[in-house]
Amino acid sequence: MHYNILFAVAVIFCSHSVNAIEFKNCGSYFLFDNIQIEGCDDDATSCQLTIGSNTSISFTINTGKPYDEFNIDAALLNDVSLNVRGTKFNLNVTPDDPCEVLLCPLSTNYSATYSAEVYIDTIFQPLNAELQWILETADAGEKLLCFLCQITLVNAKSV
Ligand SMILES: *[C@@H]1O[C@H](CO)[C@@H](O)[C@H](O)[C@H]1NC(C)=O
Ligand SMILES: *[C@@H]1O[C@H](CO)[C@@H](O)[C@H](O)[C@H]1NC(C)=O
Repeated sequence: MHYNILFAVAVIFCSHSVNAIEFKNCGSYFLFDNIQIEGCDDDATSCQLTIGSNTSISFTINTGKPYDEFNIDAALLNDVSLNVRGTKFNLNVTPDDPCEVLLCPLSTNYSATYSAEVYIDTIFQPLNAELQWILETADAGEKLLCFLCQITLVNAKSV
């Protein structure tokens, strides 16, 4: 009886820690938090993005520390891509210009939520891939934010 209870607790604990979506930081200068991918539960293994559709992705950016090292007055770019077995495919993001959502030039200790639609073109097949989001300065390619997460491309459900 005791063993069964312990076993059940262990299974719940392990499945929770295994399934949590992992967002990897790939060299962000600024802090980021609270990444949300539309339709993706906290306990999913991999977020599903539907082929031929837009998916809303949002995150909170916090500039925190000062940034004397680079030109913050420069224009900003989003570089959003899928890595499919080592090949990079760029994705369309709307709005594409981060300064349409964020207050540019970014000031110290500025915090805001960036929210955009990412379109998965119909050239893609259902597969597992890695989504990479980079927010960078246009002139020097300074990575202000970079995160990665596992996603799964799925066909639209037929109605
Ligand atoms: C995806 O979003 C963009 C920008 O809002 C829009 O122009 C496009 O029609 C949308 N595509 C689909 C399939 O909903
Ligand atoms: C930014 O926030 C930190 C922590 O609250 C504070 O120590 C610092 O003075 C702030 N800097 C500016 C320029 O507001």
